[in-house]
Amino acid sequence: MAYDLSGLFTPFTHGPLHLASRIVMAPMTRCFSPGGVPGENVAAYYRRRAEGGVGLIMTEGTWIPHPAASNEENAPRFYGEDALAGWRRVVAEVHAAGGKIMPQLWHTGLTRRPVVENLYEAVPEDFAAKVSPSGYVTAGEKVAEPMTDAQVVELIDAYAKGAETAKALGFDGVEIHGAHGYMVDQFFWHETNKRADRWGGPKLADRARFGIELIRACRAKVGPDFPIVLRFSQWKLQDYNAKLAQTPRELASLLEPLADAGVDIFHASQRRFWLPEFEGSDLNLAGWAKKITGKPSITVGSVGIEQEMLETLFSPVPTTLGKFDKLMEMLGRGDFDLVAVGRALLVDPQWVRKLQRGAYAELQPYSAASLASLS
Ligand SMILES: Cc1cc2nc3c(=O)[nH]c(=O)nc-3n(C[C@H](O)[C@H](O)[C@H](O)COP(=O)(O)O)c2cc1C
Repeated sequence: MAYDLSGLFTPFTHGPLHLASRIVMAPMTRCFSPGGVPGENVAAYYRRRAEGGVGLIMTEGTWIPHPAASNEENAPRFYGEDALAGWRRVVAEVHAAGGKIMPQLWHTGLTRRPVVENLYEAVPEDFAAKVSPSGYVTAGEKVAEPMTDAQVVELIDAYAKGAETAKALGFDGVEIHGAHGYMVDQFFWHETNKRADRWGGPKLADRARFGIELIRACRAKVGPDFPIVLRFSQWKLQDYNAKLAQTPRELASLLEPLADAGVDIFHASQRRFWLPEFEGSDLNLAGWAKKITGKPSITVGSVGIEQEMLETLFSPVPTTLGKFDKLMEMLGRGDFDLVAVGRALLVDPQWVRKLQRGAYAELQPYSAASLASLS
């Protein structure tokens, strides 16, 4: 069967950001940076995706300069001369191949083992710095004390330092990881944010405050022209069916102030891109983000693979084009601007080129074995 995928291969421009294609590599933690330092193998891994036609690479989550950000010593840091020299090399390699790249700034908050048992096997036992909005890791499970106001302010500063570093290293923008039940999302979600001070409250609009101040702080450090992307999601690793927003109006109470604070592009993480977000409309989450804010948006979730990520992370799945007609229809009518691809690009650096050539039979199926090396 032939597909008209030409819409994926048109350039995208937003302010200073110029991308050769609409395909974004989704951020994927790989844990190949011993001691938090991304080496030559990591630079070559990202370079291969740039050579392979990816328009924009989002790096794996990288730890902001905060003592409690990290729970995995082989995931890359975004501080310290050794790690930053590694990132400088990553940027140079990707740019040499004509690609664009942004780091994904990450703080896990309390979301570490045992909630994500399969994803993070190597949490050091002595990793005791437990910071989070209210000490809840998931609904009803209080395991630590809330952060003080001063700690929250300090944390925001660490994100802002990360954004400043991204600009200094020559990245093409920065992505804030505000999704999947990690730190920023722990502020957004009512089950993990029980605060009654300025960082919390009964409404999503109240719990948006941390994200808003964080984006403002990043914007103040990087100036008006450096792209800031915010990744957000309804679902959490702690609860796949969780919803921050029950209605478009509630979603607007989160996203509008974030856009005003300085988000340029919203990266709306879904497990399956084709699912409508709210009743009565075909729009998915990225579609709503764009409609509400007027900003460009990125969709993601099982593009090229019909089984969603969490069900298949450790098992092989065929690559399929079954939903590409739907993807092209949604992209074509402007629901979203960019399409992020995770597992298909993890397993196959040439995935974009193969699509472009129509060589569908050559697309590599995703398999857990691909996690074992940086190919
Ligand atoms: C191995 C692996 C690691 C991931 N690590 C991250 C991460 O660091 N940050 C993040 O926001 N999402 C992460 N994700 C989620 C992906 O970015 C993406 O949203 C998800 O895989 C769905 O896209 P896909 O169906 O194209 O794989 C990860 C996914 C995989 C498979």
